[in-house]
Amino acid sequence: MDYVEQRMAQEAQKDIVESLVFFTPLNVLLSAIVLYTVFAILRPSKSTNTFPPDPPAVVFKTYTPHTLLPFDGKDGKPVFLAVRGRVFDVSLGRNFYGPGGPYENFAGRDASRGLASHSFDEEMLTKDLDGPLDPLTDLDDEQREAMQGWEERFESKYMVVGRLVSVADFEK
Ligand code: HEM
Repeated sequence: MDYVEQRMAQEAQKDIVESLVFFTPLNVLLSAIVLYTVFAILRPSKSTNTFPPDPPAVVFKTYTPHTLLPFDGKDGKPVFLAVRGRVFDVSLGRNFYGPGGPYENFAGRDASRGLASHSFDEEMLTKDLDGPLDPLTDLDDEQREAMQGWEERFESKYMVVGRLVSVADFEK
């Protein structure tokens, strides 16, 4: 082997050794991290941009004291109550009006007189569900003001989902 061939063989061997130096455990690890990071960035995201489902459409209905009654929040049902002929969906306040809540007596009922009078007494609620609605004509100014205050609070917090009429008016 002449000198030139010998030098070429030496250089070729040097290249092989140098390329082996690159494959140190640390370099392999770093390369794996870089490759994984690039893959993670470029990988198509599994999560599709889904919006939360629309809340159920509110259907404005006419209720009677009878048909309002089942909306007492029991067994996961919505909680409705009426004030001065307007039916509010107070399900968001289930803790107040739902079963076991401090104001559960108003659930599914015309709560006008009770709210106006700050009273949970049974006689505040319309007894005869087939009869006329409570006319509330005997309330004094203070009671009217209190009732209005509750109405305003409900308006800002809950949806009006219907109106309350007597059975006689419903059948007209
Ligand atoms: C011992 C007397 C009472 C106390 C200490 C009391 C206390 C409370 C408290 C702390 C709240 C929650 C307020 C909030 O976080 O928004 C509340 C809500 C309410 N209270 Fe009373 N309350 C009392 C009597 C009454 C009475 C006599 C009535 C009417 C008959 C009444 C009707 C209501 C109603 C309807 C709500 C819920 C309003 C909503 O849906 O946001 N409370 N009460």
